[in-house]
Amino acid sequence: MTDFNNYTPEYTTVWSFPERGNWATHNPKYRGNFAPQIARNIIEMYTKKGDSILDPMVGAGTTLIEAKLLARNALGMDINPEAVELTKNALRFKHHPPSEQKVKVGDARDLTFLKDNSFDLVLTHPPYMNIIKYSDGKIPADLSNISSLPKFCDEIEKIAKELLRVLKPDKYCAILIGETRKGKHMVPLAFNVMQRFLKVGFVLKEDIIKVQHHCTSTERWRAKAMRDKFYLIMHEHLFVFRKARAGEDLSRLKYSRLND
Ligand SMILES: C[S@@+](CC[C@H](N)C(=O)[O-])C[C@H]1O[C@@H](n2cnc3c(N)ncnc32)[C@H](O)[C@@H]1O
Repeated sequence: MTDFNNYTPEYTTVWSFPERGNWATHNPKYRGNFAPQIARNIIEMYTKKGDSILDPMVGAGTTLIEAKLLARNALGMDINPEAVELTKNALRFKHHPPSEQKVKVGDARDLTFLKDNSFDLVLTHPPYMNIIKYSDGKIPADLSNISSLPKFCDEIEKIAKELLRVLKPDKYCAILIGETRKGKHMVPLAFNVMQRFLKVGFVLKEDIIKVQHHCTSTERWRAKAMRDKFYLIMHEHLFVFRKARAGEDLSRLKYSRLND
């Protein structure tokens, strides 16, 4: 339970984890889940014991498992009841010192049941449009049903607005998001998502490049990529945003935000 596979904290803006962490109940099976090292780094960097973390698109629970191991309280939500069950099961282990992790079915666009300024950190990982379909169209509110970039970003903006509201001032919101390719050209999904977070009022703190490993389709696509002159996408962006303090002088940060 405490073997962290030689985990060492990251200190640059390029993160690469060829060996995915497999400590505690982490399980790589949930499609598109992120490596425990991502959650561990972000939680250790931006919170302390007893703080409260929100992951409103929790999937199989990577963020909440790490929150428990690091004695942070956390709330996880997912639109898909199957993901919520997986997370509940993954949290069935004992850890000391104790902390509280709750998980429920819910839509990340509607956090009205949560108070303003109530979380010390948001860490989340939306679907990358419809690259992985999490509910095969059976759950209409599942963002992985959306194939249009502007429509997807409109929904992300609703989430960003809610996250800004529930995060405490001067605290951080980290989002892992990747790009995709259509018609042999890059679709700048991550940069569009970043713009929506800036639009609602967040300030950009970091753009961390996360190197991808073990992509099952890489070999299959290699010859086609060479023939059609495109490169296979092997990175994602981990954007870290900050919520400004009330009345904070942001003039020095004018290039890290969108002006009012
Ligand atoms: C990339 S996965 C998250 C994986 C997670 N980081 C992990 O490590 O297991 C994205 C999740 O977003 C969920 N989701 C999609 N639309 C949602 C919505 N409107 N509200 C909440 N969750 C949503 C999907 O069900 C899926 O589990």
